[in-house]
Amino acid sequence: MPDQTVKFYNLSLDERRAWLAENSGLSPAEIESLGGSAGLTPEQADHMIENVIGVFGLPLGIARYFRVNGRDVLVPMVIEEPSVVASASFMAKLALTGGGFFATTSAPEMIGQMQILDLADAPSARLMLLEKREELLAAATAVDPVLSRLGGGARDLQVRLLEHPALGKYLVLHLIYDVRDAMGANAVNTALERLAPRVEEISGGRVHLKILSNLAERRLARSRCTIRLDALGFENFSPEQVRDGIIAAWAFADSDPYRAATHNKGIMNGVDAVVIATGNDWRAIEAGAHAYAARNGHYASLSTWGTDREGNLVGTLEMPMAVGTVGGATRVHPGAKAALKLTGAQSAGELAEIIVSAGLAQNLAALRALATEGIQRGHMGLHARQVAIAAGAGPEQVEKLAAQLVAEKTVRIDRAQEILKSW
Ligand code: MEV
Repeated sequence: MPDQTVKFYNLSLDERRAWLAENSGLSPAEIESLGGSAGLTPEQADHMIENVIGVFGLPLGIARYFRVNGRDVLVPMVIEEPSVVASASFMAKLALTGGGFFATTSAPEMIGQMQILDLADAPSARLMLLEKREELLAAATAVDPVLSRLGGGARDLQVRLLEHPALGKYLVLHLIYDVRDAMGANAVNTALERLAPRVEEISGGRVHLKILSNLAERRLARSRCTIRLDALGFENFSPEQVRDGIIAAWAFADSDPYRAATHNKGIMNGVDAVVIATGNDWRAIEAGAHAYAARNGHYASLSTWGTDREGNLVGTLEMPMAVGTVGGATRVHPGAKAALKLTGAQSAGELAEIIVSAGLAQNLAALRALATEGIQRGHMGLHARQVAIAAGAGPEQVEKLAAQLVAEKTVRIDRAQEILKSW
C-alpha cells in the first residue's frame, strides 16, 4: 500500500519521482517513461499515427488518497487544467471518512450496429434474422478465437425496426459482444463486417453501415462514496450548509441541461484525465457519457447526491466506460503502459472502477466549491502560477510572484510583468 501520509505538493519533482520509485512498484525505466519528457519518443509516435512530426506534452500528475473497493490506488491524471489533481485528491481524502469509493462494473459488453436497408418487408426480415440468432452469434464469436478463448464473444442479437423519411422502414441489428479487457472497437467492427453477407442473405436486404456504438450502455461503471457530515464543514461554512449546498447544486444540474452540461464536464475532468493517462480513447468515453446522460429523453446529470439516514452526504456516478487494458495505445505507449501499471488495475473493469471514482471525486470538488466559496478562489493560486510563468518568471520566482498576485487579488499578466520588472 502506498504511504498516504506524505504531502506531495511540498515535494520537488525529483522528490515525487523518488517517492514513486519507493511506493509504486514501477521500475526506474517505467518511472522515466511516466515522468520523462512525454512518455513517448517521436520514433514510437511514428508507429501510432500518420505524418508524425513529434510528440505533444501535457502535465501528468498523481492523485492521492484514492481508496477503491478497499485498495489504496495511485491515480495517474493527464490534464492541462490547474487544480483538478489537487481537488480530486482532497475529495478522495474526504471520501476516506466513509471508507473510500465502492465501485462495480457490468459485463464488458459492447454494442455493434448494422444498418439494413432495401427490405421488401422490414418486420418479417426482422423476425427472419431473430430466427437465425444462434447461427449468427456462433459465427460472430468464431471471428475472434483469442477473445473467445478468454471467455469473450457474441452474447446477444437484437433487431430494431426504425423509420426515417429518407429511408422508410429499415432495420438496425445490434450485436452484443463481450470484449473482455479490450476497448472492443476492433473486435466488434471486424465481427460486424464478417457477418454482413450472411445478414444480407437472411434478410434479403442490403447492409449499409457496420460500426460499434459508443453508447456503451451495457458496459457501465459505477462508483459511490459517503462523506461523513462532520468532515464537510470548513471556514464559515457549517457541515449542513455544505452538504445541502452540494445537493441543491446537483438538483440544478439534474433538472437543467444548460447546467448539466457543465456539471458533467466537471465529472469528465476526472474521467478523461485518467482515460488519457492510460492511453485510452477519451472521445469514445465522452461520446458515451453524454449520450447516456440524455438516455431518458432529456440531458441530465450523470451523478446523484443525497443523504443517508445519519445525514452524511452520499454520491453516486454511473456511466458507460469502454476502456481497455490490452491493445491500442495502452500497449504501445510506454507512458500509458507505466500509468496503467501504476494503477495496479488487473482488468479493464478494475481500471473503469478507478476512472469512475475519479469522476465522482471531481464532481464533488466542483460542487463543493461552487456551493460555498465559488470556483475562482481555489483556481486563483494555481492560475497565478501559470500567469507568473507566462510573464517570464524564472523557476525560483514563480511561487513568490504567484503569491503576490493572489495577495493583491490581481492575477493578470500585465501586473505580473510589472512586479517582475520592479524585482
Ligand atoms: C471546470 O473545468 C469544471 C466546473 O465548471 C464543473 C462544474 O461547474 O460543476 C467547475
